[in-house]
Amino acid sequence: MERLKQKILAEGKVLSDSVLKVDAFLNHQIDPALMADIGKEFADRFADVGITKILTLESSGIAPAVMAGLILKTPVIFARKRKSLTLTDHLYSAKVHSFTKQETNEISISQSFIHQDDTVLIIDDFLANGQAVFGLIDILKQVGANIAGIGIVIEKSFQDGGKMIRNAGYRVESLARIAHLSEGNVTFIEEEN
Ligand code: G4P
Ligand code: NA
Ligand code: NA
Repeated sequence: MERLKQKILAEGKVLSDSVLKVDAFLNHQIDPALMADIGKEFADRFADVGITKILTLESSGIAPAVMAGLILKTPVIFARKRKSLTLTDHLYSAKVHSFTKQETNEISISQSFIHQDDTVLIIDDFLANGQAVFGLIDILKQVGANIAGIGIVIEKSFQDGGKMIRNAGYRVESLARIAHLSEGNVTFIEEEN
C-alpha cells in the first residue's frame, strides 16, 4: 500500500535493526485519514470471504480494525490484555509471550461476542514473531469459528511470524512488508501489483 509506505518513510524512525517507531501515526498519535485508507484496503482484500466479525488486540490494533469494520459492516472485538472491571463474563483466553518485551500476557475475550458460526478476520498493527496472532488464533479455535485470514498493517518480514502463520495455512495480507531495517533506513519487500 503505497500511501502507508510513504508515511513510514516520512515519519517512521528506525530505532535499531529490529524496531521501527511509528508513534506519529499508528502507536500513539493516530492519523485518521490514513487509518480510513488502511481499513478500506483490508476491506477490499477480504471483500469476498464472508467476514462476520473482526478480532484484534488492544491497543494499537483497534484503530485499523475499526476502520475495516466500518466498511465491511461488521462488529470489531478487541482482546484485552489485562483483567477488566467489567469483563466478568465467561472468557476465552490464551497466553501470549512477547520476545520483544520478555513477558507473557494472558489475552481474553468474552464468550458473548464471537460464536462458532462466525467467519473472523484478525487484524493487528505489527507482525513480528507472530505470538499475538497465534494467541488470537488459539482463542478462535476455542470458539470453533472460521478464520478467514489475518490483516497486518506493518509486517517485519525479517522476523519469523509471517512465515510461521503462512506455513500454518493461514492467509496473511500485510499492507507494508519490511525486508530489513538498517542504519536508519527502511527497505520494503517489492510486491507485484
Ligand atoms: P509478536 O506478537 O509478533 O510476537 O510481537 P512482539 O511480541 O515482538 O511485540 C510486542 C509488542 O511490540 C506489540 O505491541 C507489537 O505490536 C509491538 N512491536 C513489535 N515490533 C515492533 C516494531 O518494530 N515497532 C513497533 N512500533 N512496535 C512493535 P503491544 O505491546 O501489543 O502494544 P500496543 O498494541 O498496545 O501498541
Ligand atoms: Na498490536
Ligand atoms: Na503494537
